[in-house]
Amino acid sequence: MSSEDKAETTEHSLRGRVALVTGASGGIGHALARALARDGAAVAVAYGIGRQAAESVADSIIAEGGRAVVVGGDLSSADGPVRLVQEAEKKLGPVEVLVSNAGRGERHTLEDLTVEEFDRTLAINLRAPFLLAQRTIPDMSERGYGRVLFMSSTAAFIGGIVGPHYAASKAGLHGLTHSLASRFASSGVTVNALAPALIANTGMLPGMPEQLSAQIPLRRLGQPAEVADLALSILRNPYVTNQVISIDGGIHPG
Ligand SMILES: NC(=O)c1ccc[n+]([C@@H]2O[C@H](COP(=O)([O-])OP(=O)(O)OC[C@H]3O[C@@H](n4cnc5c(N)ncnc54)[C@H](OP(=O)(O)O)[C@@H]3O)[C@@H](O)[C@H]2O)c1
Repeated sequence: MSSEDKAETTEHSLRGRVALVTGASGGIGHALARALARDGAAVAVAYGIGRQAAESVADSIIAEGGRAVVVGGDLSSADGPVRLVQEAEKKLGPVEVLVSNAGRGERHTLEDLTVEEFDRTLAINLRAPFLLAQRTIPDMSERGYGRVLFMSSTAAFIGGIVGPHYAASKAGLHGLTHSLASRFASSGVTVNALAPALIANTGMLPGMPEQLSAQIPLRRLGQPAEVADLALSILRNPYVTNQVISIDGGIHPG
């Protein structure tokens, strides 16, 4: 069978894979964890302080017949990301699918942004994804299979409404994606980033703040399930790597 034929017949689902989803106690992460579990992955549902929310995500996965465990830790510390991976691997085995989704988005202007808030945002939104990738990708590469997805934001392209610290942290993920994807593509590890615009029913945008819809060509905010749907198809597909893919109702022409 030629390699093209093999690629066509390979089972691309995440069935039996071990996935770590950070920020799974939040709005988008909840939808991501459930989508991965429905595709057959065993999911480590990670939280920062929202243990109860993470437990209820894991319970709903288990109620649907899936496999999930809860893992927790503060990703703003330098050793937090490595400890989180260790906890996930102790409970489920080697992480094969990393969805680095946890993020901080406190709104600030250039004038009122403190150096402490800048550093904290960069630690959670950029350093932690780097450390998670550094801890997991070499093992994925050795085993010949891995999926990494970083949660970016349209803010990385257009600035956005949160502030310069947030936009800069998300833009950094794009450089990380390109650096890692090209290095590890030949060993079966894909690395991509997803850049949503305004997603409703999340901790960052609670409820459906309709006043923001006017900025969006589609005239509505996105839903966590729509982000999860696209994330899953990127994670399943072995031929998509080194991409930053937008899901933004048409705000930013790609
Ligand atoms: N909502 C949007 O409009 C939007 C748009 C573009 C991109 N995004 C990105 O999407 C991702 C998910 O955000 P969301 O919209 O779902 O908001 P969310 O509901 O507020 O979720 C944020 C998640 O990040 C986790 N987190 C924050 N700080 C952490 C820390 N120090 N250690 C560990 N975990 C931490 C939170 O965990 P705990 O609550 O358990 O601490 C929570 O699960 C973020 O990266 C965000 O930047 C969101």
